[in-house]
Amino acid sequence: RRQFWITRHGESLDNNSGQIGGDASLTQKGRIYAEALTSFVGEQRAIFEANSGTSSNSPILLPGLSRSSSLANRPYQPPKFSVWTSMLRRTIETVEQFDPVAYDIRHIRALNEIYAGSCEGMTYKEIQGKFPAEFAARQANKLYYRYPGMGGESYADVIQRLSPLIVELERTTHSALIVTHNAMTRTLLAYMMDIPTTMMTTMDVPLHTVYCVEPKPFGNECRQYRFNFES
Ligand code: F6P
Repeated sequence: RRQFWITRHGESLDNNSGQIGGDASLTQKGRIYAEALTSFVGEQRAIFEANSGTSSNSPILLPGLSRSSSLANRPYQPPKFSVWTSMLRRTIETVEQFDPVAYDIRHIRALNEIYAGSCEGMTYKEIQGKFPAEFAARQANKLYYRYPGMGGESYADVIQRLSPLIVELERTTHSALIVTHNAMTRTLLAYMMDIPTTMMTTMDVPLHTVYCVEPKPFGNECRQYRFNFES
């Protein structure tokens, strides 16, 4: 049994100004989310591992193994738990407080946000003003529209970029937390929850929300938790 936790990074300075892409740091609010996420995932991990009988506090002794057996004497290996982020500052800062001994932390380029080419760093309003035809083309077909300029991507490009990572994720036997971005969260959730690509590109995946996807015999189940800044 395993769980996949998926979330966007905490609020960044660019989220505040409405600029897309870039490599901004977290705001104060984003840092509060990072801290809350660290303790929430820690708690959920402990509950899940206790319920699955794989808690690091309760090593499993196989029936019939004597104390002198070399297997019984092997040091207990707690179950692994992966934490994957993109290579961008805002996701890395979101997991800064995860203990690197307790978690297997990796920063992966394939999880970077959709690359907006020559529109990187602009607001949607600026794009509409400066490149109205491009803006309209994207609105008309977000799935196949590819941003202009070197390295500009479409959602279809993103799906392809993520494919090897999805294969790896499906092969893992342990749980994972993936801290990524808006377009990437949409793509991952759409794949895991069988959401049509037509809906995927506009699906609402707010900041400060964590999704828990759990494989079940007849498909994946998804629960959503929203961080409450009031409490
Ligand atoms: O606005 C945040 C952001 O992550 C941008 O960096 C990115 O270009 C955008 O969301 C993706 O969302 P959409 O496909 O709706 O423009």
